[in-house]
Amino acid sequence: MTASRVRFRSAVFAALVLAAMETFAAQGFAQASTSASRTAVRSIPTIVQKDGHFALMVDGAPYLELGVQANNSSAWPAYLDRVWPAAETLHANTVELPIYWEQLEPVQGKFDFSVVDLILKQAREHHQRLVLLWFGTWKNGSSHYTPDWIKADPGKYPFVVGKDGQTVDSPSPFAPARLEADKTAFRMLMRHLATADLQRTVIMVQVENEAGEWGGVRDYGPAAEKVFAGAVPDALVKALGKQPGTWSQVFGEDADETFMAWSIATYIEQVAAASKQEYALPLYVNAALRDPFHPGKAPNYESGAPTDNNIDLWKIAAPSISIVAPDIYMADYAKYMKVMELYKRSNNPLLIPETGNSAVFARYVFAAIGQGAIGWAPFGLDLTRYSNQTTGPEAMEQSALKPVATQYALLAPIARKLAAGNLAGKVRGTSEDPDNHTQTLDFDRWQVVLRFGMPSFGNGMTPKGNTPPDGGAVLLELGPDEYLIAGHHVRVDFKPTFAPGKKRLWMKVEEGSYDAAGNWKMARIWNGDQTDYGLNLKADENVLLRVKLTTY
Ligand code: DGJ
Repeated sequence: MTASRVRFRSAVFAALVLAAMETFAAQGFAQASTSASRTAVRSIPTIVQKDGHFALMVDGAPYLELGVQANNSSAWPAYLDRVWPAAETLHANTVELPIYWEQLEPVQGKFDFSVVDLILKQAREHHQRLVLLWFGTWKNGSSHYTPDWIKADPGKYPFVVGKDGQTVDSPSPFAPARLEADKTAFRMLMRHLATADLQRTVIMVQVENEAGEWGGVRDYGPAAEKVFAGAVPDALVKALGKQPGTWSQVFGEDADETFMAWSIATYIEQVAAASKQEYALPLYVNAALRDPFHPGKAPNYESGAPTDNNIDLWKIAAPSISIVAPDIYMADYAKYMKVMELYKRSNNPLLIPETGNSAVFARYVFAAIGQGAIGWAPFGLDLTRYSNQTTGPEAMEQSALKPVATQYALLAPIARKLAAGNLAGKVRGTSEDPDNHTQTLDFDRWQVVLRFGMPSFGNGMTPKGNTPPDGGAVLLELGPDEYLIAGHHVRVDFKPTFAPGKKRLWMKVEEGSYDAAGNWKMARIWNGDQTDYGLNLKADENVLLRVKLTTY
């Protein structure tokens, strides 16, 4: 029997075993053991939607990724021990790590899964879930992670050709050999995970990284030119409600960019679709963004990428991709909120797989959860000293880890509750806006009033805002007049919108925590100074509050 037939047969066998296991899992017979001898059987992570709200289901229940992405070159065996301690210090529940094509397939057709296996093993030992990032054909618009045998043969694996006839440091999507090779490599990775990860340590996979072209708008190589001169595919014309024609006729001045987006998205769809036959994990692509208010035109931003103007196109071209996700490195409040608004759609769950890691970004975890995000992950917070100067967990007080660690410590124990609450539409949250120190969040019966920059005592004064603006809060409705509050550096109060003319009365404000089984353990009741002016959540001590309200 040939090697490929053996592989095929073992894949079929594994699929049958998995199917049987899935049935058991669905019946609730899954064992949560992680011992090597009795591998746990868990349901395959998936994304569900209910009444326009989304959840990433992990082990059969909604999961909120409080993630961290390692630096680009940190996923090597010698460096992994600089990743896990950072994740632990951060109280992250998920680590995002690249899988490098150049490592996985150093010789064409010979796959080395040793690093994948080590990552799986170490993630489990460190009680982390994984999001794997396939650094395949595209990494930040270039192709630097392709194996040497691809780099050495640009005739077979061509670069983009610019308008001036010069090659651009970007892989051409019109490269059948590269597409086939990427499809095979990614498929082999997913085939491997299907059997090597029955524990479902890997919960999502990113296909490529910030695909697109920097420095030009489209490929002008001979193969691309031929396709560009032809008709826009029917599927795209129909889905967008356009009249048929050539790219220039249908899209006018946006033809070049739209053509590039379609070419890249359909390439990635083929990579993704092939892998789904092996293992149907949720797949997503990430986007280098354009300015949401003043985008200009490509090449001001990465052309052909899943930028906000091309989300619809990517959804049409790449149905095997569940999420088009923004990498948000814009610190500005209005821009951050606008980007989330643009990417949160009825057909696109909000996921922020990369965001800034400095103190100003930490507060955005509250707004992201408030917008229903299924995951949020600052980039580069490991101990390799590339994106931050942290040398070890002992340096936490001075390090870039601290602001995120502070928020994750508060949110990690309630992450599953927030994810379930988001699926039910019961979560609201926001982050401090430096230009507007009072914000409101609306639930059915109550309006939450958040004031940033208030003293511990006194009513009636105008909020000044915090310096820096580091506040935020997320609230989960537990019942009609009952809320769980997790927040930072903000005063929280409520107004009864169901009872005009009435005022809020605290029935009970409990500070506490959830035990491992999810039961609330009250530590004390807040009253007197702690409630007379609203609920002052401090900058230096995050607390969980459970609040029951009534009116007078
Ligand atoms: C966005 C990319 O997706 C990451 O891999 C990394 O290069 C960061 N930019 C660096 O800021």
